[in-house]
Amino acid sequence: LPPNFQMEGSFVLKGGDCMAKRRTPGLKVTILGTTEGIGQPLAMLVKMNPLFSFLHLYDVVNAPRVTTDISRMNTSADISSMNTIAVVRNFLGQPQLGKALKGMNLVIIPTGVPKKLGMIRDDLFNINVGIVTTLKGIAKCCPMEIVNLISNIVNSVVSIATEVFMKAGTYDPKQLMGITMLDVAEVLGLHPREVDVPVVGGHARVTILPLLSQCCCLITGACAVKCLLKPEETEYLTKRSQDGGTEVVQAKAGTGSATLSMAYAALTELPFFATKVRLGRNGAEEIYQLGPINEYERIGVEKAKKELEASI
Ligand code: NAI
Repeated sequence: LPPNFQMEGSFVLKGGDCMAKRRTPGLKVTILGTTEGIGQPLAMLVKMNPLFSFLHLYDVVNAPRVTTDISRMNTSADISSMNTIAVVRNFLGQPQLGKALKGMNLVIIPTGVPKKLGMIRDDLFNINVGIVTTLKGIAKCCPMEIVNLISNIVNSVVSIATEVFMKAGTYDPKQLMGITMLDVAEVLGLHPREVDVPVVGGHARVTILPLLSQCCCLITGACAVKCLLKPEETEYLTKRSQDGGTEVVQAKAGTGSATLSMAYAALTELPFFATKVRLGRNGAEEIYQLGPINEYERIGVEKAKKELEASI
């Protein structure tokens, strides 16, 4: 684009004797950590989505697992060739963080190191805690943005982020949230489009709690499997869901974690608890209650709360 390109909702492109005017009223999103695992496919999904008008991609050099081949870092050059609406820009290194964030509506953060074989998510805590510097930058540069946290361990990172935003005086509980995604439908042997299973609690071990008693068929609104599950089946499916992330790490021989499904993608007295929400332009506009849960799930919620409390 020519140097006189103006990056506002409405902008003018000038070049030679041709002038084109375009209006782009969509959402503006910044993704932090776009060179590797989750960030790269997520950037492509956003570029394909007509709801977004601007896509800023930010990554750092010298971070853990960062490639030393600078040419590989330019995800934007690659996806810019897709003839979809979003205008893509690349930002590299801490000094460019402010520019990457300025004027955006949504920041998605899949930065940091994923779980390796033999690790539990808590092992990532000390490694990924460096995210605090980035969060301070966000709290300072763009307090009005919706912030989605993917970096592990989500159960702790959300409370860390809350502290950072509170200290900066910019905390809005509707706008700050962790993200977790789990396809329980496949484990149930059902079509993902036809089934909805709320997964509540958190994003590690027993804190991941699929409410199988609320499993609903989305087409008829009727409950699809409630009557079919025996206690041992519920036990198996719950454990399988809780170990879903570990299965992916094992399938990748410990070299990575769930990236593609994550890219496509979380009430109790605890300050933080994953539950279903309805998202709108201002963030979480409605928080859904847990709904009726059975005895097995009640015990599961108690176990989840205990571990979550420690993580928080
Ligand atoms: P990855 O190592 O493949 O990619 C991480 C990216 O973040 C790299 O491009 C790296 O250069 C960048 N990065 C590192 N530090 C940065 C910083 N300070 N600022 C900006 N960019 C930075 O890792 P992957 O597989 O994409 O996972 C990312 C995180 O997401 C991990 O913490 C992982 O555990 C977590 N995760 C969360 C899930 C969830 O459901 N919430 C599911 C799967 C992974």
